[in-house]
Amino acid sequence: MTVTVWVPRDAGAMALGAEATAQALVAAARTAGIDIRLRRNGSRGMYWLEPLIEVECATGRIAYGPVTERDVDGLVDGGMLQGGPHDLRVGPIEEHPWLGSQQRLTFARVGRTDPLDLDDYLAGGGYRGLRRALEIGPAATVRTIVDSRLRGRGGAAFPTGVKWQTVLEQPATEKFVACNADEGDSGTYSDRMLMEGDPFALIEGMTIAGAAVGATRGYVYLRVEYPHARLVLLDAIARSRAAGYLGEDVCGSGRRFDIELRIGAGAYVCGEETSMLESIEGRRGEVRVRPPLPAHKGLFGAPTVVNNVITLATVPFILAEGAAAYCDYGQAKSRGTLPLQLAGNVRRAGLIERAFGLTLRELLYDYGGGSASGRPIRAVQVGGPLGAYLPESQFDTPLEYEAFAAIGAMLGHGGVVAFDDTVDMLAMARHALVFCAQESCGKCVPCRMGSVRGAEALDRVARGVDRDGNLALVEEICDTMTHASLCGLGGMAPAPVLSALKHFGQDFRRPAPRS
Ligand SMILES: Cc1cc2nc3c(=O)[nH]c(=O)nc-3n(C[C@H](O)[C@H](O)[C@H](O)COP(=O)(O)O)c2cc1C
Ligand code: SF4
Repeated sequence: MTVTVWVPRDAGAMALGAEATAQALVAAARTAGIDIRLRRNGSRGMYWLEPLIEVECATGRIAYGPVTERDVDGLVDGGMLQGGPHDLRVGPIEEHPWLGSQQRLTFARVGRTDPLDLDDYLAGGGYRGLRRALEIGPAATVRTIVDSRLRGRGGAAFPTGVKWQTVLEQPATEKFVACNADEGDSGTYSDRMLMEGDPFALIEGMTIAGAAVGATRGYVYLRVEYPHARLVLLDAIARSRAAGYLGEDVCGSGRRFDIELRIGAGAYVCGEETSMLESIEGRRGEVRVRPPLPAHKGLFGAPTVVNNVITLATVPFILAEGAAAYCDYGQAKSRGTLPLQLAGNVRRAGLIERAFGLTLRELLYDYGGGSASGRPIRAVQVGGPLGAYLPESQFDTPLEYEAFAAIGAMLGHGGVVAFDDTVDMLAMARHALVFCAQESCGKCVPCRMGSVRGAEALDRVARGVDRDGNLALVEEICDTMTHASLCGLGGMAPAPVLSALKHFGQDFRRPAPRS
């Protein structure tokens, strides 16, 4: 009898040794005379257990983790290939409370299927959404997205349906779909996991967007630090083309749509949509002045839908299951689910897809298991390097766009990074401004100069030089950056600084180190 064993090929799992584990497994099974079929999946997002391997048994998939190359012989000898007991046995993976309590709509297939097996994708409901979109036509497809109340997952949370409607209404003969896969935020990895774990979902979402607005070409703008995602996407695009899901006659509909990859060099500002368009066109990644909006005049001067990976990968579910099936999740104006990425000082870091409304405390403790160091969690940064720092008193805030805006914070792309009570918040505030100075495109003065002068003023605060005067200067610089910057990089960099000052003011008044 052949035993099927799954080992992830996700970059996070590979960084922890999944490839060596897979090879050791093949060798150990051969030695034991057991015939195995090695299959590769994406990650389940349980990164503290990676490399997490799964054995198909009569009762379902039994997981073991973290399994290093060195553990394999012992596991095989101990009966792992029959689902036997072991210290590393996690148990039936689908029943694991960390996973079972999630509401995985966008990530439904990630970790369960072979990302490059089109039959797996189809068996898991793939391409039903595209067929539906082609059946009902552009206007009804856009209407479905409007009704789903899906908002962009790249950071700004703009209603996706409104954006698509604007592009649909443009009379141009040439239009584009640009997928933002730059994923520059610290602590975020959902785009990467999705592209590596379920690339056909992104391809299908982009194809639906193209059919909805009348675009014939799509670009995925991928950062150079994602070489695994690049290979998976290239392969998946080729397979989609060969099967007639991309190309001159998508699904026999007579509609044309194809996708190209463009690799960015890894500048944070290239994630800003107009910089990204500049970069795709082959120029330096510098922010464009708006108007015109990309929906009116975007890539190569043509109307362009710009959406994040997760936004686009969510579209097939909405088309296949209907707007209400998606909209029923969530609360208030935040509908559907959000794939949260928990990182930093927590025991169980990973991807948690839940309906909007879970509180930060539930995320940190129920899923994260508290800090990895065992010390109290003191501060949490949500929404990337330009997100506010939240103190313990705000941990009961529901993860939802408006609730976060009400406390001066943002959800962004759903990255959550935890720090324990050893964190120096003055250093964190300074880091935000130094990061902004390094990543600034230099086009406008508040960001280009403000970030440098602000970091210098914080250095003087750290040395104990005229603290009151320098802190007042920092606040004034932040005010100018917030209100006068051309884009969100300069406009949002003050959020971590001002929130650190507001909630952790004591860190700015510690005795200066002796020189
Ligand atoms: C400095 C900066 C960096 C950004 N980086 C990203 C990014 O890496 N990925 C992303 O999808 N959106 C990023 N955005 C947001 C994009 O400008 C844009 O709002 C988004 O791609 C639109 O897609 P959505 O509506 O699906 O969210 C960034 C914005 C700013 C101001
Ligand atoms: S805010 Fe910064 S990144 Fe944005 S346009 Fe101005 S200089 Fe460039």
